[in-house]
Amino acid sequence: QKLRKEAQIKFEEMASDMAKENLKIYAGSTYRSYTYQKGLYDRYVKKDGFAAAETYSARSGYSEHQLGLAVDIVNDKWDYLSENDKEYDYLVKNSYKYGFILRYPKDKIDITKVSNEEWHYRYVGKDIAKEMKNTGECLEEYINRVL
Ligand code: DAL
Ligand code: ZN
Repeated sequence: QKLRKEAQIKFEEMASDMAKENLKIYAGSTYRSYTYQKGLYDRYVKKDGFAAAETYSARSGYSEHQLGLAVDIVNDKWDYLSENDKEYDYLVKNSYKYGFILRYPKDKIDITKVSNEEWHYRYVGKDIAKEMKNTGECLEEYINRVL
């Protein structure tokens, strides 16, 4: 799996701190090329239709997986992380310390326009992650405020 170096180092640090508490996370999907994301998106459109696919898959060119800053986290059964995993609770509480944010929370769907993704984390760096944790903003809200 590939992330940008800084994000990778922080992800590994987070995973190894969690492992000390017997919590197991893995990077299930990280960097995707334009072509790969296009393949995914096209497949979802074919399967579920355009309107549905738009709610959970980014068009190629618009996915933050293409930045190498996003990671879909899986549990030790290699299922996407969900609210039922204890790792989920830990991450919601602590991921900001490592610079990661839960990118598509269920209470922000009207703003992100993406459905609830309990597994998709975005690296934004420690300072911004901490600020977003304090304000409760999602990335769109944060960006709209500071830019
Ligand atoms: N699932 C997210 C939105 C993506 O495709 O980047
Ligand atoms: Zn993702």
